[in-house]
Order: sequence, then structure tokens, then C-alpha cells
Amino acid sequence: MKKSVVVVLGTQWGDEGKGKIVDLLTERADAVMRYQGGHNAGHTLIINDEKTVLHLIPSGILREGVKCYIGNGVVIEPAALIKEIKNLEASGVDVQSRLYLSKSAPVIMPYHIKLDQLRETKKGKAAIGTTGRGIGPSYEDKVARRGILVGDLLDAELLKEKLSTVLDYHNFVIENYHQAQPLDFNEVYNNALEQAAFIKNMCVDVTDALHTHLNKDHKLLMEGAQGSLLDIDHGTYPYVTSSNTTSGSASTGSGLGATHIDYVLGITKAYTTRVGGGPFPTELFDEDGVELAKRGVEFGATTGRPRRCGWLDLVALKRAVQVNGVSGLCVTKIDVLDSFKTIKLCTSYGDQSFPGSIKEWTNVTPEYKSFAGWQSSTRGMTEFNQLPQAAKVLVDYIAEFTGAPIHMISTGPDRCENILLVDPMT
Ligand code: IMP
Repeated sequence: MKKSVVVVLGTQWGDEGKGKIVDLLTERADAVMRYQGGHNAGHTLIINDEKTVLHLIPSGILREGVKCYIGNGVVIEPAALIKEIKNLEASGVDVQSRLYLSKSAPVIMPYHIKLDQLRETKKGKAAIGTTGRGIGPSYEDKVARRGILVGDLLDAELLKEKLSTVLDYHNFVIENYHQAQPLDFNEVYNNALEQAAFIKNMCVDVTDALHTHLNKDHKLLMEGAQGSLLDIDHGTYPYVTSSNTTSGSASTGSGLGATHIDYVLGITKAYTTRVGGGPFPTELFDEDGVELAKRGVEFGATTGRPRRCGWLDLVALKRAVQVNGVSGLCVTKIDVLDSFKTIKLCTSYGDQSFPGSIKEWTNVTPEYKSFAGWQSSTRGMTEFNQLPQAAKVLVDYIAEFTGAPIHMISTGPDRCENILLVDPMT
């Protein structure tokens, strides 16, 4: 079957290495889009030894001629977006002529950022560990039907009207609940107008643009942010992000119908990491955990926080395969396991069925199947047959347990360090 719309998403708690894979696959895409999340995401790309971290702009931007879209499902912080555009342009990437923003995307306003940070401080030990970028409060305003959308920024009078009501509301909470300084209307309004002037020419009807691509038989790549276990419905609630990170939002966050999606590539690391608080059944607190962190350079791309590390959790991965309708898996960072004598995969949660509440998550007792390590370098391998036998056994077991075939294996951070078993784009 010809594939027109390919979704690439994370099957864990984010940071699975999606940016690199999206960048690689966009070689054969006409357009790339982000459909959920915001600048809480951090996609690290290493091209010719040069590191670029993208937060909001689709990873396709580094491919000349590829059009990039930010859909209605994304929350946009204009200052962060403008900074990212200017940074890319300073390093010679042409951005403004091929980046398009949905007018229906909610804006992250300064009060969202302030509220995100004030709430986390108030929660103390129970903090979610958000990125503090206003993501949650902006999605809340969207659902509460008081959000300011990108299109509203472009209409000075409408913006004034909406902002005065919504700012009154949030300032009341900031002052009276959090005992913090309220925000000044004129400052917020004037900044928003300035930002609107910068982004104005990039604002379009993204849904229509995507359907125009489909009518021309173009290939679209839909770039997910975060991971399935951070999904507001299917994740480790309340320790989740505020959007649906699973494949359904590639449809709702873009304006493509569910039947337009041809293929879902689920990305999983060969082990697991998590940033922020919340359940993590296979987390390691021993030397193996330190080794994974060290070899995998596990520090958050957005906040710089050290990532928590543990063995690959196949129970959670199988659930992610189901809820996303994964067509094929991509196993990343397999080379990080090169030094291990024994590698473990979690195959059961003990007496606990798949948890449906935070209490059930704390009842999980992970059970493991042990595999012999290969203790030789897989770095940069490009053919499945080059892999040591023990690595092949591990990868085959992941496919067998989850019921999803392995279509790609990433063997290093560079664009060219991959084993492509089935090309998701053809
Ligand atoms: P928020 O998305 O900033 O509200 O944060 C909610 C949770 O999602 C926190 O645990 C964050 O660490 C986590 N999170 C948000 N974005 C990412 C990401 O791109 N990678 C990994 N974790 C993320």
C-alpha cells in the first residue's frame, strides 16, 4: 500500500529519539507537522557532528524544501517560537518561507507560564515535574473555552477584549490563591501584538494545506512529541502532560481524518528513561542505572534535568503498541547496551494488571526476563546481519512480546547510524 501519512511517535515517557528518526525520514517527505504538545518537547538532532535542539519547530526544518506545519493541536508560545526561528536562521536555515502555523492553535500566554511554575512550587514533593513552560494551563484554557488562539493574536481589538477578561480571571488566582504579583495588562497586550506582527505571515489554514498536499499525492510526516505514557488519557495520570500523545491526536491535532493515517511508527529506546515525577516500574537505582545514564547521555533536552533510567518495560510497550495501533517499531540507542553483561526486559507487573490509577501503578512489582549481553560495539551498524547474535535475540523478543514488527534500529546519534528493515515511507 502506498503510504501518504506516516505518524512517528514515542511509546515511552518521551525522549525516545524521535527527532533523529523524523529528520531521517523527512528525506522522503514533502511536509512535516507537529500536532500536539508545545515547546516542552526537545528534539536533539546531530548532523555532521553538529547538535541542534528543536522544541517547537518540526524536525523536518533542517531538510531544504520540506514544508513544516504546526497544527491546531499544538500550544504555541510565540516568544519561544520566534527565538527558535531566529536561532535557526542565524545558522543559515531558511525557516519563515516554509513554516506554517495553524490559526486555531492555542497560544501559551505569560500567565500560563507563571501559573505552571507557581503551582509546581505549591505542590512541593507532589509536583508533577512539569517543564514549567505553561503547557498545562494553556490546554486548560482551551478546554475551558477561554483560550487565546493564534488567530486571535492577529486581530488587535478582539485580542484586547479576550485578554482583558482572561487576564482578570488569572490575575485573581495569581494574587489571591498564590499570593504572587499579578501581570500588567498593557505589557502582556503590547508584547502579544509585537509577536503577532512577527508570525502573521506564517499563519494559515493548516488543515486545508494538508489536504492540498494529499490531493497532490504528497507524503506527510506527522511528528509526535513526548510519549504514550505521558498521554493525558492513557499515561500514568496525573503524572502526564496535558495533551494526547497517542496516535489519535495526529488526526484531531491536524484536521486529517483517522482514515488518512497509513502507518504509525512507534519509537522505543532499548531501555527506558523518564524526566519529572511519577511511576516508573523498571527504574534502576544501582550501577546499571548509572551506566545507562552515562552511556546514553541521559539529560533532558529541554530542562537539562538528569533523566531517570531503567530496563525496557515490555508490558508498557505492548500497551503503547495497542493504543497507538503501531505498524512498526523503531528501537533506538541499542548501542547504549553494548557494555552490559546481562540485559533485562520487564515482562510482567506481578499480580497487578495494567494499572488504571496511580494507586495501581504503585502496586506494580516488575518481573524480568534476563538476556545475555553482547559486550561488543554495535555503534553505527547499518545492516541487521551485522548485529551480534545476542542483540538479534533481544530485538526479536521485543517484537514477539509486543506483537509489533521491528522496522528500524538506531545504532548511534548520527543521521546515518541506522538499520532500516522496512522503510516506513514507502
Ligand atoms: P509538561 O508537559 O511541561 O506539563 O510536563 C508534564 C510531564 O511531562 C513532566 O513529567 C515532564 O517532564 C514531561 N515532559 C514534557 N515534555 C517532555 C518531553 O519532551 N520529553 C520527556 N518528558 C516530557
